[in-house]
Amino acid sequence: MLKAVVLIGGPQKGTRFRPLSFEVPKPLFPVAGVPMVQHHIEACAKVPDMKEIILIGFYQPNEELNRFLASAQQEFKISIRYLQEFAALGTGGGIYHFRDQILSGGPTAFFLMNADVCSEFPLEDMLRFHRQREGSHCGIILGTTANRKQSLNYGCIVENQQTNEVLHFVEKPSTFISDIINCGIYLFTPEIFSHIGTVFQRNQEERLQEEPPCGRLSEVIRLEQDIFTKLAAQKQLYVYKTQHFWSQIKSAGSAIYASRLYLNRYHETHPERLATKQEGGPKIIGDVFIHPTANIEPTAVLGPNVSIGKGVTIGAGVRLRESIVLHGATLQDHCCVLNSIVGWDSAIGKWARVEGTPSDPNPNDPYAKIDSETLFRDGGLTPSITILGCNVNIPSEVIIRNSIVLPHKDLNRSFKNQIIL
Ligand code: GTP
Repeated sequence: MLKAVVLIGGPQKGTRFRPLSFEVPKPLFPVAGVPMVQHHIEACAKVPDMKEIILIGFYQPNEELNRFLASAQQEFKISIRYLQEFAALGTGGGIYHFRDQILSGGPTAFFLMNADVCSEFPLEDMLRFHRQREGSHCGIILGTTANRKQSLNYGCIVENQQTNEVLHFVEKPSTFISDIINCGIYLFTPEIFSHIGTVFQRNQEERLQEEPPCGRLSEVIRLEQDIFTKLAAQKQLYVYKTQHFWSQIKSAGSAIYASRLYLNRYHETHPERLATKQEGGPKIIGDVFIHPTANIEPTAVLGPNVSIGKGVTIGAGVRLRESIVLHGATLQDHCCVLNSIVGWDSAIGKWARVEGTPSDPNPNDPYAKIDSETLFRDGGLTPSITILGCNVNIPSEVIIRNSIVLPHKDLNRSFKNQIIL
């Protein structure tokens, strides 16, 4: 039998997702109408012999997370549990800490996935690839190709082109090594824990010898830096390369990009989630998700790549494109929202325009990672999507362009390239 583990991080993670991650744990942020991590769960639940999905993170369990787990468990008819780390133990430390729980019941292998990636999750293909090589390795890494510049932001893999054996693994190298990058989706055999255990023992010994003790936890282990580099040298890893879509979801802009990919995939997997033109309903262009409780005037024009959440109200003549509108928001008549995320319970006045610039995180296109250097230029915010935090009020007839508005703000004029605190 098989299991799957999803690493969901915790409150200090996902900083590039602020201010949206103030309101909801990032893994529950809706992408193409469902929580980000539900896409992982749906993919795992389809794999034959999958017995359990375990989410590991350092969030305090809260009502929202519990509600999500209970409803997903019911919908996908599979055991789903959340295990909370006592501290951020890193991408290898968390699974090592909970190894007994992961191995209980005797799985022959388990998938491990980062929550902040979007993918077609070719899990059965990975399983087949693993079975063809059984006994010769302890892990399969899902890989994809990026361009030379882009690859430097990821874990890079050098493979034996004949066998797909991983020869070198370097996390975020400073110079070009390989265009094959780590997708953050793995298949491991239980053997992986003996390798993590070796690193744990060494950490513990080093810690005991420290004078004075620096207080670093020996349990903190990073798979990419502490484990994969060694396993590559020991010829214990293979890379399975996917041609299908994949992207990280780090910034809010990449959530719009990921929504587009998942909405497009719904044609195959969940056509019922895609809106179609209905008698007396709004005009739909391309792929659009509309929550059944949303209230939309028939003269509104939506799409492509639009997701509309629970209880959203959209007035007459509204134009909405490449955007995510979160639950409870109101878009009044004739406003226009492009390349933006509208936060929970926010309101946009009549004839207002809320607009961003697309920021594609496609690994095949060069894009700027959002950090303090690239976020600002000449004292202003560089063009990116526009994000309205929760409960923001935009008055009628103003223009908000390439800006981030923090929660609970009532704006009284137009803004451009600013973070509004
Ligand atoms: P950055 O580009 O610096 O963000 O690095 P990265 O893309 O390699 O991401 P990172 O290793 O920080 O996180 C990968 C995934 O693991 C994300 O889904 C995180 O939420 C999750 N993660 C990271 N650290 C921890 C941890 O200590 N515990 C758990 N449970 N999850 C973690």
